[in-house]
Amino acid sequence: MTPLARTGTPVRSLASFWNESRLRVAHAKSSSVRPAPGTVPWRAALEDVLKVGYGVQTHSRFVAGAWERIRWRTTPSAGALYPYEVIASIAGEGSYLWDVEQGRLVPYGLAPLTHDDLAGAGFVTPSGHRLEALLTLVGRPWLSMKKYHQRGYAYCHLDVGHLTTNLAIYTAALGFTPNLHLRFSRTSMAEHLQLDGLCREPLAALSFTSAGPAAGPQAAVGSETEAVLPSTCLELPGQQEVLNWESLRGILSFDSPLKTPCAPVSVTLLLEPAEVHEVPHVSDIPEVSSLLPLPDGRPRPSSATEWRSLILGRRSAKGFRDQPLSVAQLGELLGALRAEGFPADCSQDGSARLGVRLVARNVDGLAGVFAYSPASHALHRIDARAADPRPACMQQEIAGNLAALVIFHAPICRLVDEHGYSAFAELHFHAAQMGQRLHLAAARLGAVGMTCIGGFDGEECAALARLGPGDEAVYLALLGVPDETAFKRDRMTVAYSHGYVTQEG
Ligand SMILES: Cc1cc2nc3c(=O)[nH]c(=O)nc-3n(C[C@H](O)[C@H](O)[C@H](O)COP(=O)(O)O)c2cc1C
Repeated sequence: MTPLARTGTPVRSLASFWNESRLRVAHAKSSSVRPAPGTVPWRAALEDVLKVGYGVQTHSRFVAGAWERIRWRTTPSAGALYPYEVIASIAGEGSYLWDVEQGRLVPYGLAPLTHDDLAGAGFVTPSGHRLEALLTLVGRPWLSMKKYHQRGYAYCHLDVGHLTTNLAIYTAALGFTPNLHLRFSRTSMAEHLQLDGLCREPLAALSFTSAGPAAGPQAAVGSETEAVLPSTCLELPGQQEVLNWESLRGILSFDSPLKTPCAPVSVTLLLEPAEVHEVPHVSDIPEVSSLLPLPDGRPRPSSATEWRSLILGRRSAKGFRDQPLSVAQLGELLGALRAEGFPADCSQDGSARLGVRLVARNVDGLAGVFAYSPASHALHRIDARAADPRPACMQQEIAGNLAALVIFHAPICRLVDEHGYSAFAELHFHAAQMGQRLHLAAARLGAVGMTCIGGFDGEECAALARLGPGDEAVYLALLGVPDETAFKRDRMTVAYSHGYVTQEG
């Protein structure tokens, strides 16, 4: 018996079925929304911005004969610990905590911030612009410090720098202009966000404004309704976290004056080799012999779609193959550092700019130690020999086969003496901003892998990169041909790579 005979009723022929399945464009309705630059309503774009900049990706991979599902966040973090939270205040609407796992904003009932409060807290926005939304990145040092001890505090700043950069790049690609705030009053914001007793510190904020009549003096940013306690809430600290927080007294931003904020402007964040603090003029360094221009590489991506896929596609390399990078690849990577930073409230005095050294170990046609000049997109040779980078990287295995090492450096102690906490926060933020831009440039090249390294020996780095007295590494980026078979156990609770051991030894 045929199937048709079984059902008894041949409804229609295959040909009529096929004809009925034809599509007619006249009936089409778009089911996807592509944010168009300048026209995306704020509220609609915000969730997308957070999902891209700080979301979770899922992927299946075949390991040791079986498929496994891996999940990762779109921003890098030391030890994948993500020691921060993001709170969004949206004008006229409310405040929300970003739930990264669920990918949604969860109401976080706070008293609305007035424009007077914002001004009092040191949020300076471009004149004639109305603040539409504020994303505050709140550091939770314990998450990082329980593994990385004191060093984990700087990692909070670096981690926040990566995330803020991701958010700002993608928002800018959508047609908005985000402003970076690093000099707002942490005490005022902590009070507003009701962080008292929660062992958390607001580290950075991004504000989004639109041109329009400035709001009245008491206009609110946040919910118009009565404040309710933020019940959704931030996890409460345990005893260890409280003890750790106490150990940071005197170190945190609450305890020192910050530098005066300026109206947000964009400036370059890098120093020219000749401007590097405390180093003799580069032409006075005996081995400096030549200036090597680098190939430009492609222009930066122009569409939101491309930025989005770069951010979503970025991963840290887990190891490198013993294979070279090309000068063309290096040219495109370093070219990504030349762009000005986003408009920031700390730009005008330029007190926290960074120098860049390149240690070329396995680059076709290039070997040695170089100072990078962003203005001329060229390398100044400092030493023809590039020593083994492993001691500088705390003998981390991943450094063994790297092709090139980028070192962001500054005289941290001198700058902190002169400019206090602001210099510490801004140097780390800018270094991470550079790191994230390099990450996205590597993702775009595809065949280039990269990992940021916070676990380095400063003295070894200074010797390797031929830094001048007082100058030191702030952050490292390892570049090379990625080894997809390598994996890292960076979620371990003890940072062996940092020389730490368990209590038992
Ligand atoms: C501040 C910071 C410090 C890091 N330090 C190291 C390090 O010392 N060694 C290392 O192998 N990876 C380091 N990483 C890379 C992280 O291990 C990596 O980002 C994390 O495993 C998440 O992986 P993903 O970037 O692929 O999402 C660091 C990342 C950041 C943001």
